Amino acid sequence: MSTPADAVIHYHQRTKHQLNAYAKGPESLDWDDQPNPFRRFAGCETVVLPMPGVELAVLFGELDQPVKFSDKPLNLQNLGVLLELSFGLSAWKQFGPDRWALRCNPSSGNLHPTEVYLLCTDEGLLRPGVYHYVSHDHRLERRCQFIDKAFSGELYIGLSSIHWREAWKYGERALRYCQHDIGHALAALSYAAGCLGWTLELLSEVGDSDIATWLGLDRAEDFIELERETPDLFCRLNFATQKPAAFVADTFSGFFQHAQWFGTAERLSSRHFYRWPIIDEVTQQLSKPRTEPERWQAQSLSLPVSHLHSTASQLIRQRRSAQQFNGKAEPLALTDFQRMLAALLPNAKPPFNAWSWSPQVHIVLFVHRVAGLEPGLYLLPRDPQAVTELKSAFSTDFAWQPVEVPFEFYLLTSGNVRQAAKTLSCHQPIASDSAFSLGMLARFADNIAAEAWRYRRLFWECGLLGQILYLEAEAAGMRGTGIGCYFDDAVHGVLGLRDDTWQSLYHFTVGESLEDKRLQTLPAYAHLC
Ligand SMILES: Cc1cc2nc3c(=O)[nH]c(=O)nc-3n(C[C@H](O)[C@H](O)[C@H](O)COP(=O)(O)O)c2cc1C
Repeated sequence: MSTPADAVIHYHQRTKHQLNAYAKGPESLDWDDQPNPFRRFAGCETVVLPMPGVELAVLFGELDQPVKFSDKPLNLQNLGVLLELSFGLSAWKQFGPDRWALRCNPSSGNLHPTEVYLLCTDEGLLRPGVYHYVSHDHRLERRCQFIDKAFSGELYIGLSSIHWREAWKYGERALRYCQHDIGHALAALSYAAGCLGWTLELLSEVGDSDIATWLGLDRAEDFIELERETPDLFCRLNFATQKPAAFVADTFSGFFQHAQWFGTAERLSSRHFYRWPIIDEVTQQLSKPRTEPERWQAQSLSLPVSHLHSTASQLIRQRRSAQQFNGKAEPLALTDFQRMLAALLPNAKPPFNAWSWSPQVHIVLFVHRVAGLEPGLYLLPRDPQAVTELKSAFSTDFAWQPVEVPFEFYLLTSGNVRQAAKTLSCHQPIASDSAFSLGMLARFADNIAAEAWRYRRLFWECGLLGQILYLEAEAAGMRGTGIGCYFDDAVHGVLGLRDDTWQSLYHFTVGESLEDKRLQTLPAYAHLC
């Protein structure tokens, strides 16, 4: 492979699901050897966080105007709330002898490859150092202690992925899902910070090797080789009371010269039967170097207000993926639909205030049941400047009929698109029995050619949009589900796309969910009482 971009395009092509063949994955699954979804480090001191479950008064609708409410103090209680509302457990499910945890952040296959670290230089909060969050126990593990330094009083959050957890089930395509999950995780963190009146700043300039050093991911001796973590994102928490100074990556080097590390990662699976070397190979090509800082700021956009009177923390804790939809439900109210779409447009609110780049992803909708809207295929451009280009890339059969809503929105073709939606999403009825489903179309080849690591960024953007839809759906009394399984080129075929200028990178569906009454729901943290 001559360039990193070539390697990335090769990976992407190879991991497409086709109508006649799925991407390479394991032929069978040994459920007894599923990787442990909870990483723990043996040999670390732990910090127990205050009992989770505190309800915050902030309404979901109030997050539209983040400047309007005052921020909470940064203390252990509120730090615990932040971590709980982004990565904590939300419930346990039980079916017969099987019991599994759900979390505030979703994850493809509920495998949860994302790991979360704090880098704390705030002596009043925690002993300065690096901490790993264990969602099951709602506690922090002190991986590293900084010694003898003047500390700047800040809190950073780093995210990483254990590719093995996802590859165990999904094989070569797993790397894509890990990146989606990071996008969901970033948005989950941003919403949780918003509930406390804080903002999350994604430090776009940081390079992956820095993140690996700061989080201790490059300490090979602390991990089993096949269960290593790959660095993804590094963020800073900002508070209204304190204007953040420019971030200087080198300020950390002093801390790490005199740092003491503790602990080794406990083994996640006893065997690693299938191996997917292409994931490691392409991960190397996807490594992000240090770059110039980018802080793309969206304009503040006023959103239609409907059904937003639940507290944000309640909606975050009740978020679930629908496993089945009521295909005979009443149509979704047009106002709710408009709100959900408008919430996907760049805005100066969570989670976009944690996003550093201009929109690269547009939305193709399969509308099934929305009051006052003809069923059919629609397009929501998230950057109106892309419309001309999209028009010339799409099939010439499309009508591009503007729909009367307060933002740009086009009907491409009317008609029943339920069967198409279902077939394209790996024959899953969740794509056709809902009110609408959608595909996220990313500006692809140009981004990869510019910087190969942006491949990951495109999936993060899709995951971030998915998290918006999850919460907006809950706010409207509906439910959403991320869809990572779809037939890539068949989707492109329906749109008339002929090359890889645009690629569909994620699907999503929203509607009235049907609950599976056979499943028992148990409280998230009864085991801590
Ligand atoms: C990136 C991603 C891809 C997903 N793909 C599918 C899918 O193709 N089909 C499906 O039924 N659920 C899918 N899900 C939903 C997950 O299975 C769900 O998030 C997980 O089981 C955890 O449940 P929860 O979302 O209710 O917490 C996906 C979720 C994510 C985040």
